[in-house]
Amino acid sequence: MIPVTPLDTERPSTLATEISERLNAAIREHLLSAFAPDNTKRLRSFSAPEVAELLGVSGQFMRKVHAEGTVPEPQDIRSGRRHYTAQEILNAREILERSSRTKGRYVPQRSPDEKLQVWQLMNFKGGSSKSTSTIHLAHYFALRGYRVLVVDLDPQGSLTSMCGISPEIEFDGLTIYDAIRYDDPVDMAEVVRETYFPGLSIAPSRLILSEFETESAVHSNPDQPFFTRIRNALAQVEEDFDLVLLDSPPQLGFLTIAGMAAASSLIVPLTPSMLDVSSTAQFLELAGAYMGVIEDAGASLQYDHFKFLITRDEPTDVPSQQLTSFMRALFQDRVMSATALKSTAISDATMLKQSIYEVVRSEMTRATYDRAKGSMDAVGNEVERMIQQSWGRS
Ligand SMILES: Nc1ncnc2c1ncn2[C@@H]1O[C@H](COP(=O)(O)OP(=O)(O)OP(=O)(O)O)[C@@H](O)[C@H]1O
Ligand SMILES: [Mg+2]
Repeated sequence: MIPVTPLDTERPSTLATEISERLNAAIREHLLSAFAPDNTKRLRSFSAPEVAELLGVSGQFMRKVHAEGTVPEPQDIRSGRRHYTAQEILNAREILERSSRTKGRYVPQRSPDEKLQVWQLMNFKGGSSKSTSTIHLAHYFALRGYRVLVVDLDPQGSLTSMCGISPEIEFDGLTIYDAIRYDDPVDMAEVVRETYFPGLSIAPSRLILSEFETESAVHSNPDQPFFTRIRNALAQVEEDFDLVLLDSPPQLGFLTIAGMAAASSLIVPLTPSMLDVSSTAQFLELAGAYMGVIEDAGASLQYDHFKFLITRDEPTDVPSQQLTSFMRALFQDRVMSATALKSTAISDATMLKQSIYEVVRSEMTRATYDRAKGSMDAVGNEVERMIQQSWGRS
């Protein structure tokens, strides 16, 4: 236990520091016991039916390619059941792609003439499910064989910790701040690191990233103004990825705006409540004004897709359904058809810093799990179709 001594309440600065120290010590203890013995996050294995679904083939087809020796058996076979690591699934993709007549069927990565997809999730309304949507999209695409980079633009680092890096404690490595700072920035390739989730890399964040807000306010660097800095950083690693997802902080500051200048598509996650809808209206009014300002300063903004995503959707809640219908009536297909359902499966998973894709189905009420996963899959699938469209594939 951490000794609980009286806090110094005399000076606010000391008080805040003491509270922070105590919290950090508690987090360290909690995390150590939660992630014992080695503190690292690992991805679960996937069952044969899950793998067949991910690859878009039948179970029979998988058994055949294993029997023929085309695709090696997974390492882990228990009581006749196959359990695949995500890396084994990616390897199977590579092998099947080589003998497939339809190019891109198993490895859907972009060709050099298909442009990098940069999707930003943004809304200054806190808790509108930006980070949850980002991590679910990231896992959806990585499991389907895309090369995904998430960029955590929030100094709070929620996305960073969902990727198995704890910005609160041990992590003192390079962050996205180091690639976009004004003073001697480092190459983005040094910042990007692979995660425990095959196919997913991250440009992490921690508190230092908030310096970008302060520095951008005082800096006038006409060669490389603030709104070019994320775009330029991404250009340095562009060849390694198909899709970049930018998670934004709950404010419309320099980080969010620099993200907007780097993005090729935008998603505004929105919870269907009156407060959230009116706050989103204000957000977009401001965002529109800022877009105008940076366009006047030389940024060229162009979005293939600019969509609302209804999050924490509750089909049985009448007022929220009315608001959703209202948004659809006003904006038609600018509101994505798929919605992210509100589900205890999602909130329970995120408590453990996991997405629904990391949870084992048998560890939850099946109906709850299926509903939540079905909804996240539908959101991913709709974004995937938009991406394919941007690449001119459909
Ligand atoms: N579909 C969902 N069902 C249930 N709970 C959800 C769902 N989506 C998000 N939540 C919960 O809502 C909370 C806020 O979500 P999240 O952190 O993704 O929002 P955010 O927009 O990133 O917040 P912030 O503005 O602070 O960055 C989290 O506790 C998360 O578990
Ligand atoms: Mg967030």
